[in-house]
Amino acid sequence: MKVLAILGSPIRKRNSETLLKKVIESLEDHVAEDESVEVDFVSVQNVKISPCVACDRCTRIKGCVFQDDMVHLYKAFNDSDIILFASPLYFNSVSAQAKAIIDRCQAIFSSKYVLKDPMIDRDRKRLGLFLSTAGVDMNTDPELFKGTLPVMDLFFRAINTEYLGNLFVGNVDRVKVMDNPEALASAKDWGRSIAKRYKTL
Ligand SMILES: Cc1cc2nc3c(=O)[nH]c(=O)nc-3n(C[C@H](O)[C@H](O)[C@H](O)COP(=O)(O)O)c2cc1C
Repeated sequence: MKVLAILGSPIRKRNSETLLKKVIESLEDHVAEDESVEVDFVSVQNVKISPCVACDRCTRIKGCVFQDDMVHLYKAFNDSDIILFASPLYFNSVSAQAKAIIDRCQAIFSSKYVLKDPMIDRDRKRLGLFLSTAGVDMNTDPELFKGTLPVMDLFFRAINTEYLGNLFVGNVDRVKVMDNPEALASAKDWGRSIAKRYKTL
């Protein structure tokens, strides 16, 4: 099982990473005994990814004009079975760094729908989960993460990945994910259910 885990927080070892690592840990615990889990962990802190500049070159030539760390991600999207995408909620959306990755998937979109020469294997089955953490309490605002939903839906469609669902944790400014047993249990549940679902692919 190839897992691509993207950490969209510019800060390491905080809420989003804790949640993401918990899902990975649980996935590793729940895969079939003869299955090995290969995790490609990409933190936005360690990569250089330019935002899309709408040069439109990808509508004429397959791929992106920028030869930065997105080259690795294009390949990783194609080769992965499971794509875990974690981002803190910034102004009701994903972080700017996470959004840069998403916008750069325009090259994949163009390759499929304009050039008709896909950069991604459209027949390969991939499963995707979105994880997000926020300062506001979801009890105060049940629609806190609403703004991220169409963004992530389009992203997962661009990379031909089935969007399984979301793991949202609010109130992290008061209760950190690592001190929130309910959030950690939900992460564990997601790991278990993705491992189960993977077996049916
Ligand atoms: C630029 C910025 C914008 C933010 N916008 C929101 C927001 O719109 N709603 C919210 O509930 N929390 C917001 N927060 C709080 C973060 O979502 C929260 O601290 C998150 O858990 C950080 O994730 P991390 O600990 O993994 O870095 C914002 C924080 C920053 C730095």
